[in-house]
Amino acid sequence: MKHTFRDADFNKLAELWNAFYPGRYAVDADLLRQNTVDSPLFDWGASEILTDDNDQVRGFVSVKRSAASLYRGPDRDSAHLNAIAYTDPRIGLDLLFDAKQTLRNRGLARLVFGMDSGHFFPGCPVDFRNLSDFLMIEGFAEGGEYFDLERDLTGYSNKFPVPKDDELRLIEASDLPALQRFLEREFPDRWRYDVTKKVAAEGPVCVFGLFHGSEMDGFALIQDWTHTKPIGGAVWRKDLGDHWGSLGPIGVSKRLRGRGSGNALLGEALSCLAERGVRRCIIDWTTLDKFYGGHGFEKSRFYRHLSLSLE
Ligand SMILES: CC(C)(COP(=O)(O)OP(=O)(O)OC[C@H]1O[C@@H](n2cnc3c(N)ncnc32)[C@H](O)[C@@H]1OP(=O)(O)O)[C@@H](O)C(=O)NCCC(=O)NCCS
Repeated sequence: MKHTFRDADFNKLAELWNAFYPGRYAVDADLLRQNTVDSPLFDWGASEILTDDNDQVRGFVSVKRSAASLYRGPDRDSAHLNAIAYTDPRIGLDLLFDAKQTLRNRGLARLVFGMDSGHFFPGCPVDFRNLSDFLMIEGFAEGGEYFDLERDLTGYSNKFPVPKDDELRLIEASDLPALQRFLEREFPDRWRYDVTKKVAAEGPVCVFGLFHGSEMDGFALIQDWTHTKPIGGAVWRKDLGDHWGSLGPIGVSKRLRGRGSGNALLGEALSCLAERGVRRCIIDWTTLDKFYGGHGFEKSRFYRHLSLSLE
């Protein structure tokens, strides 16, 4: 029988997810709820759960709408396949068929795998061939590749010099207006939205700031195991283990780039996480392996952009 997500049992959905995906992508019920129905973009009409006669979950598809209503940048005509899991590919095909029909009827042009606001995946996991093959057979076309990086921060300390006139520290409540001015000026789209939402949930301790003169000129979002609303790479907290940490996004004002601020900001923010007791730390959804590699990070998960034309 097919159901909407209205009365979804998230423990059962997480059980199916964890049987479907390789262990490094394991999630729990809270995370699944947070990144699906708790999102303002969750698409109640295009998402669906299939159960069998014994009320066991056999598959589900979670779709999100474009984030164009939340911030600038996203394509209004794209929807996102936020999550899919099934016990049999035929069930996956059936659920995806329904989702595509619904989206086509609304005149949408594309279904993108992941990359949604409040995402699990920045693309299809490259090491999960069953899923990528399934989506390619469905007609999804490949694009660029991204990766996550990881390292254990035990014993980490920053070795990069702090450029003259830069001040690097955790932000405080009194810095929030400066943070907003900086994000408006430099990263007004998804990052402004994500950072603002994260600060509202966890407080200013999740932002490490770069101050230059009277203005804020850089930031790094940092997360650790005490956080209640993990975003980005922190969704893989189960695989990262106790005392997990996460860094990113990170950004420096355009006018200050290329003079060492980025390395110093990254180094000091990682030192802050190490001092908190973070062990495995993730930096997600990037292509900058040299920049992060200079701090001992190594590539871990790989994702391939996949997108399906609905026209
Ligand atoms: C990435 C960023 C924070 C680096 O800040 P920065 O102040 O320019 O960094 P630094 O001057 O300390 O230089 C850091 C190193 O990274 C390299 N680097 C920085 N940005 C890069 C990019 N987009 N592509 C490739 N290399 C880059 C620099 O060449 C430098 O390498 P080097 O030490 O071998 O010379 C800054 O470029 C930025 O804000 N970019 C836009 C946001 C962004 O892309 N963030 C990372 C998302 S994963």
